[in-house]
Amino acid sequence: MSAPIDFNDRMLSLGLARVSEAAAIASAKLVGRGDEKAADQAAVNAMREQLNLLDIAGVVVIGEGERDEAPMLYIGEEVGTGEGPGVDIALDPLEGTTLTAKDMPNALTVIAMGPRGSMLHAPDVYMEKVAIGPGYPEGLISLDMPPATRVSALATEKGCAPSDITVCILERPRHEAMIAEVRSTGAAIRLITDGDVAGVMHCAESDITGIDMYMGSGGAPEGVLAAAALKCMGGQMYGKLLFRNDDEKGRATKAGITDLDRIYARDDMVTQDVIFAATGVTGGTLLPGIKRQPGWVETTTLLMRSKTGSVRRMQYRTPV
Ligand code: FBP
Repeated sequence: MSAPIDFNDRMLSLGLARVSEAAAIASAKLVGRGDEKAADQAAVNAMREQLNLLDIAGVVVIGEGERDEAPMLYIGEEVGTGEGPGVDIALDPLEGTTLTAKDMPNALTVIAMGPRGSMLHAPDVYMEKVAIGPGYPEGLISLDMPPATRVSALATEKGCAPSDITVCILERPRHEAMIAEVRSTGAAIRLITDGDVAGVMHCAESDITGIDMYMGSGGAPEGVLAAAALKCMGGQMYGKLLFRNDDEKGRATKAGITDLDRIYARDDMVTQDVIFAATGVTGGTLLPGIKRQPGWVETTTLLMRSKTGSVRRMQYRTPV
């Protein structure tokens, strides 16, 4: 029997950037065209095609859904040539399908890769999330704290007033009470209509984005992707799965989760070093969107490795 091949994150990272770029380029033609499904499908097809060129024995652990609901990039699908290290892959070929269809900011293609067993197999349920950027004492904020206490804890540590803090929250009726409580502290809120992977990532570069904290519930798969990004960029994040019914609990049990009430810290969701790539589809605060001109297309990709904390922004222009 041959020895297992190590996860060589340095060598694989450029391949990962190509996967992310390809998905973005494929969805570019559908930006602002009002067709979420077509944009998503184009990204899925391109991401899968590029992934299958990589010399990995990959398994999708966060993907487009269960096998019976997603024909491609479903959870458990094997990807890559099979001629390389065994890796787990978390992906969202188009994070922000509606943002793309409406040409609104911060739609991204997103993919993370790590050794087998490195990422939580989060079921497709909601997750309560809170995140801040790097440089703060561990546990400064938590999911157990009321939203206003999180804001005052961060303001005290930053040495500023709560009114100097900006919190990012998904604009949803379920967040009305949270929004009111955060506003009562004097803090500003940047409401987003979609895309909480980007929302969390914004905390890691608050000097660029103006966002200090993310909070609220969104997709659990997106929570794991955001945790992978923060593991590379630095920052704290906590997540707790939320279940609306027994079917959702069953999904978690099927995914191997035994403690349904567990609060996961960032490194519980992503337990080993990973690589992460995200390409801007529509322009945003973290990344510019795709530029299309007659004859060529240009993308910008954030490519990161948690082992080294390296964060690259890579521009790529190709004839089309
Ligand atoms: P899509 O990529 O499927 O468009 O999801 C976008 C998103 O906004 C995520 O970023 C977020 O986690 C989730 O949807 C929120 O779900 P809901 O729209 O049900 O509140």
